[in-house]
Amino acid sequence: VNISQITLSHIQGTPLYKQLAAAFMAAIERGEVQPGEQLPSERVLVQRLGISRTTVVTAYQELEAQGFVCRQVGRGTIVCAQARDTQTSFAWQGKVARGALRTSDPTLRLLSSISSDPTVISFAAGIAALDLFPAQLFQEITARTWRDQAKLIIELGPTEGLLFFRQAIATMMGVHPSQILALSGSQQGIDLIARCLIDPGDSVLLDAPGYLGAIQIFQAVGAHLVGWDSAHADMNELEDLIVRYRPKLLYTTPTFHNPTGRTISRQTRLHLLELAARYHLPIIEDDPYRDLAFNIKPPPTLLSLDTQRLVIYLGTFSKTLASGLRLGWLAAPEAIVNHLTLIKGRSDLFTTSLQQLVVAQLLMSGIYKQHVHTMQSEYAKRQTVMLRELRRSSPSDLIRSCPVQGGLYLWCQLGYGIDAQVALQKALQVGVAFLPGEVFYPDGRGHHELRLCFSAIPPPQIIEGVRRLTQALSGLRSYAGQERYPIL
Ligand SMILES: Cc1ncc(COP(=O)(O)O)c(C=O)c1O
Repeated sequence: VNISQITLSHIQGTPLYKQLAAAFMAAIERGEVQPGEQLPSERVLVQRLGISRTTVVTAYQELEAQGFVCRQVGRGTIVCAQARDTQTSFAWQGKVARGALRTSDPTLRLLSSISSDPTVISFAAGIAALDLFPAQLFQEITARTWRDQAKLIIELGPTEGLLFFRQAIATMMGVHPSQILALSGSQQGIDLIARCLIDPGDSVLLDAPGYLGAIQIFQAVGAHLVGWDSAHADMNELEDLIVRYRPKLLYTTPTFHNPTGRTISRQTRLHLLELAARYHLPIIEDDPYRDLAFNIKPPPTLLSLDTQRLVIYLGTFSKTLASGLRLGWLAAPEAIVNHLTLIKGRSDLFTTSLQQLVVAQLLMSGIYKQHVHTMQSEYAKRQTVMLRELRRSSPSDLIRSCPVQGGLYLWCQLGYGIDAQVALQKALQVGVAFLPGEVFYPDGRGHHELRLCFSAIPPPQIIEGVRRLTQALSGLRSYAGQERYPIL
């Protein structure tokens, strides 16, 4: 702010502090001072404008109350409102807590707008084959549950979940029902764990590349994120990172990993658990894809191999049934389940009972198992179609990927130095979407990688989507070797 341009009038009738506050608001509105920038200190304003310290303090209090600035110990008065935000009568941006400003990913907003656009074939979001959802059976069981258990459906439910549901999950996992917490999706589990275990500044070790939802959650609680490439599973590197950063926890998706599709071996799992035990490191095993294996039996869960009670396991029905059910669970030692249950209660009281009752019946009747078999073979088929089309319609050096043994994703490397964000803009123009690699790294790597989800779309559309994708990528090949691409 140019202080010499601030003129205050003693004869104007408006108190001096209001005039000073208005001058700063106008400067913020004009964009002369940006969010994060410091306003002049009280001492400097007193000296330069010849006003009292009380006038300056009151002006800054006024700006703070209206959400234009925040006061930070050791840094002074910092602008936090955006210029555009000040057009409205109240600067909401300035009221938003620092934690909530730590993450804002435009890619996710873009994704949700794409998913409702019928002209775009989307390989972006990781969703189940909803065309194969057992709707008829689901409706029948739901109707029967309403008929027989209406009271249970509509009354307040227990935060930890209905015993009926927890028993069904506990049987499937070979643990005691007291170790199970029902969740409104496994995403909620990551959030609860982050809020329960992480203080701002704590280090968190996590897969890089890895699940973007987890990256955002840990960023939001102020963790220092340390990436480890679990797909390559270099255990010496992992130990170095543990020693160097003393992380509070390790978050990983060891089976049919998102986004790479890789699975770590039984041997590596044992090694991981041994390191975790040696350094007293809790492990979050996020396991949404385990059931979606194509003709192989995945290695045992970290939870089942753990003898030290260090693992918190997360499961979900989002990738086998549908994300819209918002139903998942957590399995962990009772002591930590109790803490997490308290935090969940503060957040959403409890997970919808109807969903728990219906899904528990699917589990116990064997319908779920049958449905999972159908999904396994269908996802395997969809992967084959996608890989075949990628190979058929583009030269191998344009986009490369390896087949996976389960899950939902192909992780692809782009040739010719093509930037995935640029490729996404081009792809959207021809009606196809994917996720650029960058969003899977906490530190902005992944410029030449992208993730394709093969499960969500029936084969004829996969064929058309891949045709559009390779058309978009081929158009970018001519910029090969150039540092920057034209803005598309
Ligand atoms: C590794 C991982 N964890 C959690 C989730 C979120 O699942 P849910 O729908 O159960 O919240 C996803 C979804 O893509 C995921 O890939």
